[in-house]
Order: sequence, then structure tokens, then C-alpha cells
Amino acid sequence: MSESVTLSGFDGFPSGWYSILHISELPKNKPFACIRFGIPLVIWKDSSEVVVMEDRCPHRSAKLSLGKICDNKIRCPFHGFEFSKDGSCTHAPEFNKAIPKLMVKKYPSRVTLDMIWVMFGNPSGVDDISPLENVFNSFNGNYSFFSKKWDSYITRCIENQLDYTHLAEVHKTTIGRNFVMPQNPRFEQTDSSIITYQRDGDSSPSTIYVYPNSWILNISDKMKIIAYFVPVSQNQSIIYIFTFRGFLTAKPIKPIIDFVMNISNKIILKQDQKVVESQASWNNKLEDEVLMKHDKAIKLFRNMWKSRQQKHS
Ligand code: FES
Ligand SMILES: [Fe+2]
Repeated sequence: MSESVTLSGFDGFPSGWYSILHISELPKNKPFACIRFGIPLVIWKDSSEVVVMEDRCPHRSAKLSLGKICDNKIRCPFHGFEFSKDGSCTHAPEFNKAIPKLMVKKYPSRVTLDMIWVMFGNPSGVDDISPLENVFNSFNGNYSFFSKKWDSYITRCIENQLDYTHLAEVHKTTIGRNFVMPQNPRFEQTDSSIITYQRDGDSSPSTIYVYPNSWILNISDKMKIIAYFVPVSQNQSIIYIFTFRGFLTAKPIKPIIDFVMNISNKIILKQDQKVVESQASWNNKLEDEVLMKHDKAIKLFRNMWKSRQQKHS
């Protein structure tokens, strides 16, 4: 049985299972290097599972991501030590034997909804992601997606999606052109989600934030968006935008419509980027900000984020 190590670092990220990479970004038969939570990681696939490890050889700290995958092991590029998916050294060429106690740090991970998820910190369990699963399954896993890196802390990116009042200003030339300010929105909260209804009497929500780093935009029964906010560091995040569409899906036109949808979503996201990046970063004193009535979802989010930080610190 493999020994997993807790992935921990900057305490601005509360404990939880975070989506960190789309499965298609992982090359076949090659290790993949990325930084998440400010920590260099190497992600690779053996014949049966995706493995997430610290990108550092325990011998003399070379980057394992520069090495190779052979026979379900990752081989360090420096002296050729090989490590299995549980992290232990199965072969050290200079001794021609295994050194089982020499271990690479391996982090708990899983693959679901076509994303690789990793456990950060010490969460008490796996949070409910059924709202995401429902969207994914109701479109039979058909979507198009793109991602963008922002110089912004993850909470600023998430709060931007919970903030509907900026549509009238930031997006006045696009999706905010005919925006009407909701007069009596309703907000609900569960242990791991924040649900916003445009009007108090609405039966279906307009957005759902799913702890820790996902968000759903419910445009209609035929079109929904899932966004994942992936923490790269204290100052950088990658935003994945998945568009699920139940119309114009016939084979010849689907890629064209996907392309157009992604272009328009990129334009909208670009409108947000400059202003969100201009916000003070994670260490800004949030208590100095004055939240308004329409910022209720942001307030709920900040409370949830803070309580999760405290719960597992
Ligand atoms: S540094 Fe990796 S085998 Fe020596
Ligand atoms: Fe926006």
C-alpha cells in the first residue's frame, strides 16, 4: 500500500480536493511538470493510474519531470534511480538494487469529470461535487474548453464569478449589454456550495459555487458553463472554462460552434482579467473592503473559505 504525503504549503489555501489539470494535458508516456499551490509537481501515468508527486528526486533534488517513464516507473534524469507509483525507489543503478526507504513524496489524487484532482492539506473528507457531476452527465460529458492564466489569487478569481453587478460595467459591450440588476436575488448555502437565484421565486439557480475551486453558470437547460480555478501560486491561477451545449452538436458544425463559443468566452474573460488582476492580492486586508447588499454571495464565500482554513489549520 502506498504512503501518501500531505500536500501542504501556503495556508491561504484551505484543505480540500482541488481540480488541478485537464486529463488531456497529460502527455502519453512522458512526465508533466506543473506548479500548483506554489509547489513544483510532476504528474505521470502508469498503466493503471495518474500519479501526482513532488517534482524532486530524493537523492539529489533533480527534477523528475525531466526524466522518463519506463515500465511503470519514473526514472530520474540525473543518476537513473527509478521510482514506482507509490514513491519508493525500485532501482538504483549504482547499487543495482532497490532502496525502498528512499521515497519521493506522493500526493493523493484521483481523476473525475476529465480533471485530475489532488488532495491539499487535511480535509475531513471529499466534498460533494454532485452539482458538477449533474452538469457533466446531463450533457454526456460533451463539452469544449480552454484555459487562461491570470496573475491573481484564486479567491479573487472565484469572487469575480460570484459578483454579478460588474456585468453592467465590465461587460457592457458583451454579456452585460442588457443587464438588469436583480431586485430580490436569493442565496442559499450548503456545507460545500453557494447557490444564487436571480429572483427569489426562481426554481433553478443562476450560479452554483462548489467548494473549493469550481463554479457553474446555468445559462439554460441547453447550455451551462463550468469554471475551475486552479491555484498555481499565491499570485497566479489558471481558469478553465468548460462550455456544455445541447444544440448545434451535429458532427460537421460542432467544432465550428465550439470554436466560436470559446472565442466569445475568451473575450468576456479578457474583459474581467485586467480589473481582477488589479485587485490587491491574497494578503490584502479584506476587512477594509465594504461589501454591498449585492455582494452577499461573496460574503458567504469568504466565510466558507475562512472557516475551512480554520477547521484544518
Ligand atoms: S538526483 Fe535523482 S538519481 Fe540522483
Ligand atoms: Fe466578468
